[in-house]
This record gives sequence, C-alpha cells and structure tokens, in this order.
Amino acid sequence: MFPLFTLFLTVLSLKAFSSLVSATLVNVTVDDSQTNGVSVIQYTPTGVWNDGLHCDGCTAHPDPENTFDGTWHDSTHLAGAGEDGLNFATLEFQGVAIYVYCIIAHTSTSPDGNTDMTFSIDGNTVGSFSLAPTNQTTYDYNVLVYSSTDLSSSSHTFTLQNGRVGGAKSLVLLDYIVYT
Ligand SMILES: *[C@@H]1O[C@H](CO)[C@@H](O)[C@H](O)[C@H]1NC(C)=O
Ligand SMILES: *[C@@H]1O[C@H](CO)[C@@H](O)[C@H](O)[C@H]1NC(C)=O
Repeated sequence: MFPLFTLFLTVLSLKAFSSLVSATLVNVTVDDSQTNGVSVIQYTPTGVWNDGLHCDGCTAHPDPENTFDGTWHDSTHLAGAGEDGLNFATLEFQGVAIYVYCIIAHTSTSPDGNTDMTFSIDGNTVGSFSLAPTNQTTYDYNVLVYSSTDLSSSSHTFTLQNGRVGGAKSLVLLDYIVYT
C-alpha cells in the first residue's frame, strides 16, 4: 500500500508542477508587418497606412537598421480631419500585459513630426501619447508609447488611434507590439 500511495503523491505533485509551468508568462512580439501567426495587426481604414520601408511617397525615412525586423507602418492624420480622417491599428491578443513601440520623428515639416495618439483596450480609452515637434532631425527608436501590465487573463482588443477629430496634423510610425 505504502509505495502505491507514494506514487500517487508523486503523480499529484507532477501535475501541480506542470500546471505551474503552463502558467509561466512569456512575451510575444508582433511585428507591424507580420502576416501570419496568432495575432496580426489590422490597419484601418484601408489605404491610409503605408508599409514605411517601401513607401516612396512617405516623408519619414527612419533607419531600418534601428527598427524591429526592419519595418514599420506609417500613417498621417490630416489637420482638422473628422471622424473618417482618424487612422487605427488594432491588435487582438490573449494576455495580461501589452507594450506598444513606435518610432518618433521630431521635425515640424517633411515629415510633420507632431505625435498625437490615443489608446483603447476593449473599447475603453486607456491612455494617450502626444509630443509636439522639437525640430530635432533624428528619430527616436523603440519608444514605449503605451503599456499596461494589469489586464485580466483573457482575450483583448487593443486599438491605437492616430489623431483626434478636428485636431492637428499628426504622424505615427508603428514598429511593434509586445504582449505577455
Ligand atoms: C516583457 O517585456 C517587457 C517590456 O520589455 C518587460 O518589462 C517584461 O518584464 C517582459 N515580461 C516577461 C514575462 O518576459
Ligand atoms: C520648429 O520650427 C518651426 C518652423 O521653423 C517653428 O515655428 C517652431 O517654433 C520650432 N519649434 C521649436 C520647439 O523650436
């Protein structure tokens, strides 16, 4: 009887150990240009976002070497534009934390480096990131524009909104999103 009981306890503790292992938190990085995988960033409305690396008409030309995976998504909100002039990047993910990274331009023209983003999770506004141009001509990379580490362990919808209704012209250069 005794050895059987020991075996029973061993099986129990192995089970407990494996459920601990499956609860280990890991970070998943979603590149702006990822086209397969569980979580992929959706860009709306269609046509207003550009694949920055291959965009000849774009005025922002950050150094691909300094970006994650050499790519970024570029969109501009035009001054005074209404509801239909807002640009959105949306990510559905399963996790407890999210970190959003952009490239930031600081020039006031070509590109217009005014930054004005608003963030929402599951339809609720959760933060914003605004920065007026300083006229500095270099770009900043891996800028954490939004993070949240206290989400419920379930699926969530994160949305980045570039610009605001009636607001100033603004630029977004989205590089990657990490979720936990
Ligand atoms: C995930 O990445 C963030 C940002 O770099 C970091 O602060 C956090 O500790 C990481 N979490 C895990 C579980 O590795
Ligand atoms: C940046 O340059 C613009 C245009 O020359 C000027 O109007 C603005 O005041 C400058 N901004 C700063 C912070 O120096």
